[in-house]
Amino acid sequence: MTTISLPTPRVGGAAAAIEATRKIYATVRDVIPEVQWATFAEDVVAINELKRAKNAVVLAHNYQTPEIFHGVADIVGDSLLLAQRAQDTDADVILLAGVPFMAETAKLLNPTKTVLVPDLEAGCSLADGITAEDVLALRAEHPGVPVVTYVNSSAAVKAVSDICCTSGNVERIVRHLGVDKVILIPDEYLARNVAAATGIEVVTHPTRCEVHERFDTAQVDQLRAENPGLTVIAHPECSPAVVEAADIAGSTAQMIDYVTTHRPPQVALITECSMADNIRAANPDLRYIQPCNICPHMRRSTLAKIRAALETGGPEIVLDPSTAADARHAIERMLELS
Ligand code: 13P
Ligand code: SF4
Repeated sequence: MTTISLPTPRVGGAAAAIEATRKIYATVRDVIPEVQWATFAEDVVAINELKRAKNAVVLAHNYQTPEIFHGVADIVGDSLLLAQRAQDTDADVILLAGVPFMAETAKLLNPTKTVLVPDLEAGCSLADGITAEDVLALRAEHPGVPVVTYVNSSAAVKAVSDICCTSGNVERIVRHLGVDKVILIPDEYLARNVAAATGIEVVTHPTRCEVHERFDTAQVDQLRAENPGLTVIAHPECSPAVVEAADIAGSTAQMIDYVTTHRPPQVALITECSMADNIRAANPDLRYIQPCNICPHMRRSTLAKIRAALETGGPEIVLDPSTAADARHAIERMLELS
C-alpha cells in the first residue's frame, strides 16, 4: 500500500492569519469568497498590528473594496465624515484609504501629523479637471460672487475658494450663504442639481465625475422595468436627468443611511460599484441591483499598498504651507457649518 504524506500545516503565515481573521471574515463572507480571503488575511493581520505599533488610524471612504472597508478600516464614511473624523483623531499617523484629495483634506486639518495615502498617483476626474487659475478666471468674470468648492479638488483650488462643501452638505452650505448666485465648482452636474434643488443661480465649470456621468435615464428605466417596486438612489454627481429619475439622491453616507434605516426590499445604488458590496456585507437580506461602474482611482488602493505605506511611512501627503493655510480656512468654514 502506498502511503501519501500530507503536507505539514504551516505554523504562522497564511493559515494562522486565516484563523486570526475568522471574525472579520464573518462580516464579509457574503461578498468575498473564502479562497480570495485567504489571499488577504496576512495583510489584514499585518495592517492591524502596524496600526497598534504606530498609533495609526485607517480612515476609509465608502468606495473602498470590502476587504479594506471591513478588514482594516477604523472609520468609514463619506467625504464629510472622513474630514470630521480626521479633525478629531488623536492618532499620530492617519492613513486615508481613498484618493489623494481626501488625504489632503485630512492633512489640512492635521498639519503636524503624518498623513499617508495608499497610492499618490490615484487621481479623480473632478479634482484633476480644474486649476486655481480656472477659479481665478471665474472670479474675475463674476466679481463678488462667492466660490463654493466641492472637496473633490486640489488644495491649490481650495486655497482660492471661499468655502468648501461635500455632496452631503452642499445644499446647506449654498443656502447658508444667503445669496442669489454662487460659483459652485468643479462638478457641473452637482452644481446643476443644487441649482434645481435650491432655486439659486449657479455658475460652474465643465468638469464631471467619470464614473457617475456614465449613468443615464435609459438604464434607470430599464432597471425599474425589470425590477418592479425597485427603490433607486442616485449620487448627486449623476446628471440632473438621472437624479430626477431616481427616488432619492444623496452622498454615499446618506445612501447607506437610507438603506439601513428604510430597508427597501430591492434597491439600486446609482454610484460606484463597491458601495453595494459594502452595504450588502452588513445587510445581506436586501436585494441589491448593482449597475457596476468602477472608479479606477479608488481601485488603486489595495491592502498591499496600505501595508507598505504603514511599514515605510510613505507615500506621505506634503503641502505647501501657504497654500495649505488658505485651503484650511475654506475647509474649516465648511466644518463649522456642518
Ligand atoms: P461622498 O462624499 O458622497 O462620499 O462622495 C465622494 C466621491 O468621490 C463620490 O464620487
Ligand atoms: Fe473622483 Fe468620481 Fe472617482 Fe469619486 S468616483 S473619486 S468623483 S472619479
